[in-house]
Formats: sequence, C-alpha cells, structure tokens
Amino acid sequence: MIRKILASAAACALSMTAMAVSGEKIVVGFSQIGAESAWRTAETISIKTEAEKRGIELIFSDAQQKQENQIKALRNFIAMDVDVIGLAPVVESGWEPVLREVQEAGIPVILVDRKVNVSDESLYESYLGPNVIEEGRNAARWLAERMNGKANIVELQGTVGSAPAIERKQGFEGVIADYPGMRIVMSQSGDFTRAKGKEVMEQWVKSPDFRSVDAIFAHNDDMALGAVQALEESGFRPGKDIVIVSIDGVRDAFVAMVDGKLNCTVECNPLLGPQFFNLVEKLAAGGSIPRWEESFEDVYDETVAAKALPERLY
Ligand code: AHR
Repeated sequence: MIRKILASAAACALSMTAMAVSGEKIVVGFSQIGAESAWRTAETISIKTEAEKRGIELIFSDAQQKQENQIKALRNFIAMDVDVIGLAPVVESGWEPVLREVQEAGIPVILVDRKVNVSDESLYESYLGPNVIEEGRNAARWLAERMNGKANIVELQGTVGSAPAIERKQGFEGVIADYPGMRIVMSQSGDFTRAKGKEVMEQWVKSPDFRSVDAIFAHNDDMALGAVQALEESGFRPGKDIVIVSIDGVRDAFVAMVDGKLNCTVECNPLLGPQFFNLVEKLAAGGSIPRWEESFEDVYDETVAAKALPERLY
C-alpha cells in the first residue's frame, strides 16, 4: 500500500509522484453499479482480469444498483487510503458531497462508462468512456435510413437518472427531430435489465395503440432481448413486424440478429480494463491524464452480424 503524504486536492499529483518513486503496489478501489446487464458483467470481468494481469491490488465493490451503496464504498476506500478510485456511477446526480470528501483525502477519481453531474469538475480526474450522445444519434440515424424517415417508435429507457439513459435519449431525439414522420409514441424505463424490458413490453402489446408501432429503440441490448421475448409470446415477429435497434453489442444481440429477431445494435465497448489501468498507471508514474479518455465503438446490423458473431466475446 502506498501511503499518501498530503491530503488535499492539490496534493494528488505529489502523492502520485511519491507512489512512483516508492515502487509499491498500487491499490485501486472500484465501485461498480451491479450486474444489471451482460454488458456490465463483461466490464467487471475486464476490470478484474486486467488488475490481476498487472499485479495491481483491486478492492472491488458491487453496489447492487444503489447509489447509497456506492457512496458507502467510496467512504470505505477513503478509510482504506487507496491510491486511485474508479467509479461507474449508477445515476448522474448526488455525488458532490462524497466526491468532495474523496478530493480532500487526496485520492484521484476516474469515472468509468458513465458521467456525473457536478458543478465543480475538479472533483474527478477523468472520464473514461464513450460519446454516449453519439450512440443515441447512431441508433436514430440507422433507424431513419431503415424506415425511410417514417416510424412510430416505442422507447425502452435505461435506469432513470443515469447518464446513458439521459444522453442516449437526447442523441436519438436530436436526430429524429429532423424527420417529421418519426415520433416516439410510448416511452418507459426498463432499468437496463432483460426482465424489466420484457415486463414493459408485455404491458405495451396489450394496448390497442400498439398496432400502429413500427419500431423499438432500446437503450441497451438486454432490454431489447426482453422485448423480443415478450413480442414472440404475444404472437408478433420481432425483427420483421417490428424493427428493433438497441445499444451495447453483446453476443446475445448478435445471435438475435443472426436469427432475424433484432435488426441493429450500436456498440458500447465494455472492455475498459486495459484503458482504465493505463490511466491508473500514468497517475502512479506522476503523469497527467486526459479529462476524457474515449473508448471506441461501431454500429452493427443484421447484414454483418453473422460475420462478426465469432469475434463477440461477451
Ligand atoms: O453505462 C453503460 C450501460 O450500462 C450499458 O449500455 C448497459 O447495458 C449498462 O447497464
């Protein structure tokens, strides 16, 4: 364990330099949201595997979808005097007080895959993750082309108050605003889980208005896959009667595309372990890291799914 020599925001750089000089084992606290989706599980595996590979001590905490558990974890990390904290925040707001405590303890924070909404951006060192608004835009662009600019869409939103639910919606709506024939007719949260995506869709299909629905935009693959199940159980042919676009690019989404039940997935890369620990090691060596380390992603539809499937590991 590397001891911090000063406890203030300004002391972070000095403290990290001390770490590099001492050559001691780096200790990282990582507060994970939970295991709501296949995507999140893949991210957890990537973080744990990479820490082990690099001989970094990882104190991993699973918050089971609760912000209060993440706040507790951060306080524990302060008490344990970890060197760096990784935080995948379940929702955007409510972080300022605890992040201030972390800053006062002189521990740098790297946000992983989701952003926070704070008035003082010095409360975290860096955000590692994708351009989430662009993911929403990519889903909308693909759908607009596929539907020739005309579609009644139902939207399965992610966790209420989470950065990806807010930003994917924002990106998607921004693009469809240019198409007068495209509109969202129903929208509800499925909490990023397969079970809730199915549950919401089961309710929707009972509505007489559902007959006019042409397309589904799901903020992640797990909810889309739950919706696929609900549609099949109600006698619809997902991917044919209703066009489905979602986000993540997990293996099961590729399987569904090959089976003709899902039409497109916009990739959101969960394998952030290597990039995360590159940032940690840079800090440990006394270096500075970018405010935003972008992860790279692609768009895959049914025309390329079979070819891409063997390479999908998560
Ligand atoms: O923050 C990334 C999102 O969180 C993924 O799209 C979703 O599957 C996960 O739960």
